Amino acid sequence: MDPGPVYAADRKLLDSRLAILRVQADADREAQRLVAKLGNPPGQSFDLIDDYLMWIAFHAIQPVFGTAASEVAAGAGGDVNDPGLQRQYLLEIRYVAGQLLAGNSSTLRVQRRAEVHAASLIARIQGVCSNVEKAWGEPSPSEGTERNAVGLAWISHPVTVQSGALVVQELLSRRKVYEDLRSAANELGERVWTDQSFRKSVYDHVLELMRFRPIFPLMARDVPRDTEFATGGRRNAVCPAGGKVALFSIGALFDRRAVRRPGRFCPQRDWGDQEGLRWLMFGYGTRQCPAKDHAVDILTSALIGLLTMPELRLSSDDGKAIAYDGPLMSRMRVRCAAQEK
Ligand code: HEM
Repeated sequence: MDPGPVYAADRKLLDSRLAILRVQADADREAQRLVAKLGNPPGQSFDLIDDYLMWIAFHAIQPVFGTAASEVAAGAGGDVNDPGLQRQYLLEIRYVAGQLLAGNSSTLRVQRRAEVHAASLIARIQGVCSNVEKAWGEPSPSEGTERNAVGLAWISHPVTVQSGALVVQELLSRRKVYEDLRSAANELGERVWTDQSFRKSVYDHVLELMRFRPIFPLMARDVPRDTEFATGGRRNAVCPAGGKVALFSIGALFDRRAVRRPGRFCPQRDWGDQEGLRWLMFGYGTRQCPAKDHAVDILTSALIGLLTMPELRLSSDDGKAIAYDGPLMSRMRVRCAAQEK
């Protein structure tokens, strides 16, 4: 959507909804519940996406719909306590987001599936729109509520879950980093959830892990009017109106001119005047993700939970540990060690 009064009103509404979230408390609570469940009996394998991340992100983000949160997940007339309906909702928004992740490279199958699920999502929100309007204190009927509820549903949860899976995949491939974090968590015992300096360290690790595996390594942008981009070279890049540009964000995250020793894994790196670049995984400028702090907070809680568990490894006991469904990671099996060494 182009900047203008409609975008400004939408953004005001979104910001007010994001402000009511208490993601850390909600994500911590759900992570603790799941760690207790998945760690018992010890040594079992579980799906990091379907059994863990999906639910932590759900409990942290769904309150954005206020008192209508359960109805949005269950659909009009659905049983709000039915986990099957909640799961169906999460798959619906996952497939819509799949189109975003694949961008221009999405296959016809991925596009069609996104269209089918987008239609279901719109129907779902229309069915409960008066509840959402009431929950958001918006006039009824309001087109803005429907548009923003649909947008918020699919843009928030799936990207957070996929990013979380990428973060864990990167961490498990760096055994020393993982072991150091686990032993710090172990030493803290009960205080692992309340120690602020540990939380800050995990938060910094999440950002650095995301730098190595950004979910949007490439971002496509429409060019609405003739413009030029500075290249740092002798000539600017001319972009005529109506075209598209691809921003190679992963290239920028590893640009030696901006980041000292970019190939080094360094969560405590001092970014100096390049602090904005550290968040490039969330876009840049006025359209940067408005919930980037929430997203990193959710992933921090999820990671702390995993660090309190016995040692995890990817598990290929029943097929490949990681499975893809189009552009999305649909499965990531991990196994907890039965006992600490
Ligand atoms: C790790 C998780 C996340 C990542 C990597 C991510 C990334 C992004 C990116 C790259 C954009 C586009 C920015 C641009 O156009 O330049 C975006 C937009 C957006 N994100 Fe996120 N996001 C995440 C989580 C969330 C969450 C949890 C929410 C809400 C609770 C959210 C809400 C939004 C909204 C509403 C927009 C549209 C903003 C606009 O058009 O002005 N995102 N996000």
